[in-house]
Amino acid sequence: MSSFPRPRRLRSTGAIRDLVAETRFSTSQLILPAFVREGIAEPVPIHSMPGVSQHTIDSLLKEAEELLGSGVGTILLFGVTDEKDSDGSLACRQEFVLQRAIGALKRSFGDELTVMSDLCMDEYTTHGHCGVLDSLGRVDNDRTLLRYQELALSLAEAGVDFVAPSGMMDHQVAAIREALDGSGLVDTGILAYSAKYASALYGPFRDAVEVEIAGGGNRKAYQQDYRNRREALREIELDLEEGADMIMVKPASYYLDIIAAAREISDRPVAAYQVSGEYSMIIAAAASGFLDRESVALESLAAIFRAGADLVLTYFAKEVKGWME
Ligand code: PBG
Repeated sequence: MSSFPRPRRLRSTGAIRDLVAETRFSTSQLILPAFVREGIAEPVPIHSMPGVSQHTIDSLLKEAEELLGSGVGTILLFGVTDEKDSDGSLACRQEFVLQRAIGALKRSFGDELTVMSDLCMDEYTTHGHCGVLDSLGRVDNDRTLLRYQELALSLAEAGVDFVAPSGMMDHQVAAIREALDGSGLVDTGILAYSAKYASALYGPFRDAVEVEIAGGGNRKAYQQDYRNRREALREIELDLEEGADMIMVKPASYYLDIIAAAREISDRPVAAYQVSGEYSMIIAAAASGFLDRESVALESLAAIFRAGADLVLTYFAKEVKGWME
């Protein structure tokens, strides 16, 4: 009898590796972020995000159909407009492009398509901050909550399945839940952007929604500091206590430790947002011939799921089915 420990490598075929792979995900766990813009007749490609466009309502309907065809059942909308004011009030109307888009999607696809909407002010304010400002030009947390409540009601009345507050105001989840419940909109869900870091990876997105922060400002006063982890976990705990139905970590790839920790402390689904910069870096490097787009994109998604995400928001959503076949 040989005294060697088992000396050989086991047979390793693709089928065997698939049999025992620890991380698996399906396209039904993906969400496509999409932009719908007021006042355009044709979709407008976004320069900093090749392959992504600002949509008309018509082209958005086509996009949603393709999305369903590629096995993805959820879309998260951002509204884009030139009509901005200091408190983003123009976005709270049923005639606004976001509410009209939600209505059109739900009429066309019903429950087959889950429609989520970002809920924030930066796309709609002249100063580009995520809330309304006080007389000193600082974001006024509590007055912003009143705006969020108004916007939440308007989106819910338009038929959205989930609102996704992304402004990082304190107590935004509680304020929105209270407003929705108070109006009988008890089945509209909340996907909370809970651990949202002040990240340079949102750069291409600001092109997409045409947001510039006045005076070269930033969001460091209300988004998380990327040197910190404990405060992000505290934000997640608070959002869970306030009634979030799902929580989110954003960005994703540079924050895998936060996703893993979120998975540990959350009894509700954890979403991770592979943001515009994560997308555009892969596209740009692939376009330069430095790496393979499809392999890197798949590896990045697998890593985000391996870290513990239950759902991933990604601009690659529509392509993934083709890659997994
Ligand atoms: C804020 C919001 C941002 C993103 C989603 N919601 C930008 C920001 O906080 O500055 C970024 C998404 C991306 O980069 O893909 N409404």
